Amino acid sequence: MVAFLGKRLLLFVSSYLAFSFLTCTSNKTSTTTTYIVQIDKWAKPALFVDHVQWYSSIVKSVTSKPSKVDDSEDEDRIIYTYHTAFHGIAARLNQEEVERLQEKHGVMAVFPETVYQLHTTRSPLFLGLENRYGTSVWSDRLSQSDVIVGVLDTGIWPESPSFNDTEMGPVPGHWKGKCEIGRAFDRHHCNRKIIGARVFYRGYEAASGKINERDEYKSPRDQDGHGTHTAATVAGSAVHGANLFGYAYGTAQGMAPGARIVPYKVCWTGGCFSSDILSAVDQAVADGVNVLSISLGGGVASYYRDSLAVAAFGAMEKGVFISCSAGNGGPDPVSLTNVSPWITTVGASTMDRDFPAIVKLGTGEILTGTSLYRGRRTLSTQKQYPIIYPGSNSSSPTPSSLCLEGTLDSHAVAGKIVICDRGISPRVQKGQVVKDAGGVGMILSNTAVNGEELVADSHLLPAVAVGETTGKLIKHYVSRDRKASATLLFLGTKVGIKPSPVVAAFSSRGPNFLSLEILKPDVVAPGVNILAAWTGDTGPSSLPTDPRRTRFNILSGTSMSCPHVSGIAALLKARHPDWSPAAIKSALMTTAYVHDNTFHPLKDASTGVPSTPYDHGAGHINPSKALDPGLIYDIGAQDYFEFLCAQGLTPSQLTAFAKFSNRKCLQHFANPGDLNYPAISPVFPENTKVSVLTLRRTVTNVGPPNSNYHVAVSPFRGALVEVDPRTLNFTGVHQKLSYKVTFKTRSRQTAPEFGHLTWKSKEHKVRSPIVITWLPPL
Ligand SMILES: *[C@@H]1O[C@H](CO)[C@@H](O)[C@H](O)[C@H]1NC(C)=O
Ligand SMILES: *[C@@H]1O[C@H](CO)[C@@H](O)[C@H](O)[C@H]1NC(C)=O
Ligand SMILES: *[C@@H]1O[C@H](CO)[C@@H](O)[C@H](O)[C@H]1NC(C)=O
Ligand SMILES: *[C@@H]1O[C@H](CO)[C@@H](O)[C@H](O)[C@H]1NC(C)=O
Repeated sequence: MVAFLGKRLLLFVSSYLAFSFLTCTSNKTSTTTTYIVQIDKWAKPALFVDHVQWYSSIVKSVTSKPSKVDDSEDEDRIIYTYHTAFHGIAARLNQEEVERLQEKHGVMAVFPETVYQLHTTRSPLFLGLENRYGTSVWSDRLSQSDVIVGVLDTGIWPESPSFNDTEMGPVPGHWKGKCEIGRAFDRHHCNRKIIGARVFYRGYEAASGKINERDEYKSPRDQDGHGTHTAATVAGSAVHGANLFGYAYGTAQGMAPGARIVPYKVCWTGGCFSSDILSAVDQAVADGVNVLSISLGGGVASYYRDSLAVAAFGAMEKGVFISCSAGNGGPDPVSLTNVSPWITTVGASTMDRDFPAIVKLGTGEILTGTSLYRGRRTLSTQKQYPIIYPGSNSSSPTPSSLCLEGTLDSHAVAGKIVICDRGISPRVQKGQVVKDAGGVGMILSNTAVNGEELVADSHLLPAVAVGETTGKLIKHYVSRDRKASATLLFLGTKVGIKPSPVVAAFSSRGPNFLSLEILKPDVVAPGVNILAAWTGDTGPSSLPTDPRRTRFNILSGTSMSCPHVSGIAALLKARHPDWSPAAIKSALMTTAYVHDNTFHPLKDASTGVPSTPYDHGAGHINPSKALDPGLIYDIGAQDYFEFLCAQGLTPSQLTAFAKFSNRKCLQHFANPGDLNYPAISPVFPENTKVSVLTLRRTVTNVGPPNSNYHVAVSPFRGALVEVDPRTLNFTGVHQKLSYKVTFKTRSRQTAPEFGHLTWKSKEHKVRSPIVITWLPPL
């Protein structure tokens, strides 16, 4: 059950975040750090010939030595100039200069540089992802090839067969970008699949010093592997016979194998910096991308202080669809990142594929786990090996039970199979620690945090991951039998696993602490054990000690689920070029499914009980249905702006989103819940006198011209729900009809209540999740 957090607590949490945000950037000294400065481009005084000259003069007027003759140093202060999705600059400034800058004509907002992280649990596995959606989705390859997806990540490994352009036609006419070259990346590395490539490091270098070109490619080439993996997941070409160490032979391909890829490299060994990310979004929009895939995130304190949210708003205004990872902060509640309503926020779930492995105990008992181990150091299936648990048998893990570095006694573990608890250190590193101490194998046991969720890894020694229950069984056996023994067996690949999908324990959870009226995440998509292309520079475990090199790798994280949605969005864009980003998201949400392959409600891997919309959003994406959703909930840029107005942002906070002077609050919404979102989230205020809430929605017919829909609403304990009208009869394509939903409290509930509202016609079901929240009375 999801713990309920009152709005006041949420406010507390958000003000706490905002506070810590400020304290860590409060150095008043002369040292400069990077700030992103949003400037009203329409406020440029006529005396400046262009914006670059004006921005430079603004910076000059606030920097400490304004009378300096040589102005080259001041020009160096500006790291980036932004023109498209965002207007302004990134510049190195000290605190006093920032204070002066905020008073300047035209300056709308100043954001301190923040560091974002990649959303992967760094633990690869080896195996194959298969197309589970049927081939019909790929039918219009021609129009797919017009869609360009920008991937903000660690770059790309262009030699991967996933980027083979043999079957691609000429580069689309609307591409205006470039192929930037650098170390080990030449013009010929761009092709008709990777149609451009760019790097953004000025913010990173301003904060961390010059990139050492011997250690890191200062070019689009991907050393890390993450960017190659996400790009191939979006739009990799089909590669037959993809496999890892002979495991799981199959065809690997991206979700939109006909679409084009452009890597925008923003992440370096020290992280991904907001000024670089912002520049990449700005450039990508100017370059003509249609979809942006962003598998990274950072602390969010508010919509207007999050430069990625502000830039994404600008991209959305230009018709670019943006898919972001929800974060890997689960199963804790309120752990989401990237929660703006104009972004599609993607959580992670499992697929119906597993890599079973067996722990055969000395008692003859056989227990199942998962593994991708394949190597020379196999264990004998005939022999039994002594088994040891370096922790106490109490339920709380200790440093040695976690197999942290330097905690294992090699006298105790040599020649044995070691049980290690999951947590704190990377899973593959625990295997390395056991191997270094002379252990022959590892059983990696989940604790209560992960429950029964199994994530397999490419360990450097024979290893099997087991769920919490199995782990307890084995520990119990070890504690009562001093001659406890076991062997490990690896069974390869199995498909048709039930139940699936299951929401991954690590997938970040709602509610959305910035607005309870906007349900987040939006959807879940495959993000556990995903096979895709890999860098030639790093082993599949990502450990520096791993000498293996593989063309494919398996990773888990919301970083992996995000590019699935980016790729499906590219397919939707190809089929429906006139759809707005909101229409694409609506199609994905209203067609998502909420039942697994055993016909039961989706489950939460961390608890084994049914998941809620706080875990899975509208549900699991269903690409073939999303191509033909029947109705869509469309939202324009002004609607999102009205939502922000209804959120109570101050005029100066709103300016971050009101780039064009004509964007004003027109007071369309009585309630932020009136945003035409495909999920419906009424929030009853603390004032118990308010017992009736009415929200409005408008649907657009994108199905047959003559379509009659009737509504069905799930029952709620706490409220009566009335829909007016209860039927919607369309007589034309693109016709819009509106309806009202009224919620009447019957009895205030202490926890939020979940359900759904579905419009049904002969051909279509258009389903919206409902979350009713009653804030605790004051
Ligand atoms: C603030 O100054 C201290 C001491 O000079 C330094 O250690 C710290 O990193 C600085 N913080 C920032 C955000 O620049
Ligand atoms: C690219 O794909 C074509 C077939 O589509 C194949 O003939 C060719 O060998 C591939 N090239 C590489 C470098 O894998
Ligand atoms: C823990 O170990 C003690 C003695 O070693 C044993 O009596 C007890 O049953 C064990 N508890 C569990 C949960 O295995
Ligand atoms: C829609 O059509 C149905 C049946 O044709 C009819 O019963 C219903 O009243 C109509 N609804 C509206 C709002 O006109």
